[in-house]
Amino acid sequence: MITINENYLKLQDSYLFSTIAKKVAKFQEENPDKKVIKLGIGDVTLPIAPAVGEAIKRATDEMLKKETFRGYGPEQGYDFLREKIAKQDYEKIGVTIDKDEIFVSDGAKCDTGNIGEIFGTDNIIAITDPVYPVYLDTNIMAGRTGNYDKETDKYEKVVYMPATAENNFTPELPKEKVDMIYLCFPNNPTGTVLNKDELAKWVAYAKENKAIILFDGAYEAFITEENVPHSIYEIEGAKEVAIEFRSLSKTAGFTGVRCAYTVVPKELKAYTNSGEEINLNRLWNRRQCTKFNGVPYITQRAAEAIYSEEGQKQIKENINYYQENASIILEGLKEAGYTVFGGKNAPYIWLKVPNGYTSWEFFDYLLEKANVVGTPGVGFGPSGEGYFRLTAFGSKENTIEAIERIKNLK
Ligand code: MLT
Repeated sequence: MITINENYLKLQDSYLFSTIAKKVAKFQEENPDKKVIKLGIGDVTLPIAPAVGEAIKRATDEMLKKETFRGYGPEQGYDFLREKIAKQDYEKIGVTIDKDEIFVSDGAKCDTGNIGEIFGTDNIIAITDPVYPVYLDTNIMAGRTGNYDKETDKYEKVVYMPATAENNFTPELPKEKVDMIYLCFPNNPTGTVLNKDELAKWVAYAKENKAIILFDGAYEAFITEENVPHSIYEIEGAKEVAIEFRSLSKTAGFTGVRCAYTVVPKELKAYTNSGEEINLNRLWNRRQCTKFNGVPYITQRAAEAIYSEEGQKQIKENINYYQENASIILEGLKEAGYTVFGGKNAPYIWLKVPNGYTSWEFFDYLLEKANVVGTPGVGFGPSGEGYFRLTAFGSKENTIEAIERIKNLK
């Protein structure tokens, strides 16, 4: 008899963004005359930069010619891209990363999900609450979380680290000993950041407890303020305790092109049950070589193009556009009397829902009355209850219209 991985039965019914998409599709079907503005999932709306488009065309031409055609590439990514990443994303901020520590992939969602494969299933995981659902769901699938408790909306073995207005969205270090710590800064969903001193505390904790930090830096390109680390490796000693994930999805509008990378420093170690030190760079490399055949050549040339002078200028223009949307949302909501957070160093605005609403009730209210889609905070974890997320990734016109509609509700 074929059996299943029963951990899958511990998952909530549907992935957050699929649930929202279904609800919105139903509303749209019942109200075909209504123009729904979607500021829910963090998906970009501007086209890819011209420099990226040109690179795709050139690479496509190469693939069409016998002399320049390429088949399987290196599983870790082509050197032309890894070298640019090392130089431009790290050397420029004073961090030395060897190209062999960089693993190019098709997305940070896959990497943050797959990385768990190289760690024991007995490890205790710690997640901020609210959190990007992928970290939790993939650990449920792996069997690290135990069962779901409906009362608390929590999994029994997971350490939840609340990040709410009460603690200024700065989660406290766990009181108990944990092994795998997921941090995402600038944060999805709250749009808030940690300064260098705060991040240094996590690095110190990880060192002291022989834990590992899985640091998701997908929104790094949106940082505007000083003293906000662009990489966890800006913190001394972090290379001994942290894996960093970066994505081109939001940085360069690659949500449909698909390219990201993960940094696994050579200093990074984890242990066997008997206490033997194991090099994680080698382990992740082994995993990738077995399960992954690399990102398409055309995509990697597209990614390389964002590091050219033109490419950098063009992607910065797009980021500025989204940052302006974020200001429109922040200021507009403040005027309308909402309490708002984030939006300064991130494309997400996190707001308190009006008294008397749960975050799902507020979702329904906004959809029905303003025809605006956001994401209910509780979908990101129990401490997200009472909050709501809007993204700055819409078009400017739609963003302005959505905020006007919300203001007019008052
Ligand atoms: C989000 O809306 O949280 C993100 O777009 C999801 C993702 O990047 O996978």
